[in-house]
Amino acid sequence: MALYSEKVMDHFTNPRNVGKIEDADGIGEVGNAQCGDIMKIYIKVKDDIITDVKFNTFGCASAIASSSMATEMIKGQPISKALELSNKAVVEALDGLPPVKVHCSVLAEEAVKAAVKDYYDKNGIFYEPELLAP
Ligand code: FES
Ligand code: FES
Repeated sequence: MALYSEKVMDHFTNPRNVGKIEDADGIGEVGNAQCGDIMKIYIKVKDDIITDVKFNTFGCASAIASSSMATEMIKGQPISKALELSNKAVVEALDGLPPVKVHCSVLAEEAVKAAVKDYYDKNGIFYEPELLAP
């Protein structure tokens, strides 16, 4: 079996939603101290819907594929849906990641939550802390 699924290869070589949103409503930046990967996710929000999302990831193939997939999964979705996005769901959507690379998908989940938290904080929106816990 190949180490990486076709979907991972596809999202790594042709990542979706790469870039930066200049007037983002929320920005989430997370990192993994062990491997040094950094992931940044930008969101635009209108009426509680994530209307646009972009990412920049300095990291391994799995981290890039995970961010690409995560952005596709939350784009156009209500915030509540985006907060339900688990790293497991990202891994499943990618048809799996090698076990040592599962932590890369955790970054994607954390980055989405961090972006929503930033949006909530900037707009003085109250939220239950557990909602945004990793
Ligand atoms: Fe080097 Fe993830 S381990 S980029
Ligand atoms: Fe660290 Fe991929 S190796 S996020």
